[in-house]
Amino acid sequence: EAAEKSGYDHFMLKEIHEQPTSIQNTFAGKLMELEGTVRMNELYLNPEQIKHLRRATIVACGTSWNAGILGKYLFEKLAGIHTDIETASEFRYGNPVLCGEELTIAITQSGETADTLAAVRSSKSYGCRTVAITNVVGSTITRESDSIVYTRAGPEIGVAATKTFTAQLITLYMLAIHMGRTRGVITADEAKDLIVNLKRLPGQIQRILNRKEKIKECAQQFADKRDYFFIGRYLNYPVALEGALKLKEISYIHAEGYAAGELKHGPLALITEETPVVAIATKGHTYDKILSNIKEVKARNAVVIAVANEDDKEIEKYADMVLRIPASHEMTSPVLSSVVLQLLAYYTALAKDCSIDKPRNLAKSVTVE
Ligand code: G6P
Repeated sequence: EAAEKSGYDHFMLKEIHEQPTSIQNTFAGKLMELEGTVRMNELYLNPEQIKHLRRATIVACGTSWNAGILGKYLFEKLAGIHTDIETASEFRYGNPVLCGEELTIAITQSGETADTLAAVRSSKSYGCRTVAITNVVGSTITRESDSIVYTRAGPEIGVAATKTFTAQLITLYMLAIHMGRTRGVITADEAKDLIVNLKRLPGQIQRILNRKEKIKECAQQFADKRDYFFIGRYLNYPVALEGALKLKEISYIHAEGYAAGELKHGPLALITEETPVVAIATKGHTYDKILSNIKEVKARNAVVIAVANEDDKEIEKYADMVLRIPASHEMTSPVLSSVVLQLLAYYTALAKDCSIDKPRNLAKSVTVE
């Protein structure tokens, strides 16, 4: 097993470090930078079908569901497709109103999650076309979906998903750009700009990994806390949810991810000097809003750990601690912030001597209801 970990103490740490490479595998052969297009040969939807799509529904569980929220925002912004994101276990027992002009996109790392499979079967019974985004070749979902897009992150052993999550995000960017170009919602130049920024991600992630000591120190400082909050807005909202999920999965600290604008509708009552608040405060059109949210929690004496861009000097006036990501495009920074939060969870669990690769009560894939 030590050999399989390639010198890392845990599979999770190894898999976090594989991301500069795994992301390139997810891209491979798809990004047509000069033309401003993304090649998606696996998608069995012709241009006319893509143009006439009325709605997309994303179904997923756990970390894959968090990725799906980013997918919703991307499909709506880049492809102009109304998109719903549904928890598969709820969707299967709800009363979805679906029809044949619609697409269901199932996101599942393992391709075996029982609830996600059931949601796909249910969508098919309404005549929807189905696309599966999965990491496992030949998994059950690949036999049940019309199109299969592989995330190609390589096998993931740690129960807490890391490199497969970022691979899902990358796949969603590529699908959104592909559909957005086909539908004429974004121009070739806009697509090129995004593609250039996607291609920068492996190098930018490497930069974060090279300077992980600061994240480790931060994790150690707050490892004895009972509760943590993670807040973000828009594209950083799913980052906050996934940051909280990672922390609770492997360090057993109670953590909640919140849309920062919702703080005043409940969570503020729980904020004290004992609750660290991680604020994803990267540059973008909601930056000023998250600064206001940081002020709200500071006023309740919370310790604020901000995730911010390297070129942001202003943030130091507001946050107690700043974890940096390279200067980046608003649209692609969620991938970078996610890597920071993976490391924060990892080093917190390490400081608490938890069973990182096999957290209690959790399984890598949940094949029963
Ligand atoms: C389990 C795993 C999670 C995963 C979820 C959904 O709970 O521990 O890491 O996100 O299942 O799995 P899937 O394979 O469908 O993405």
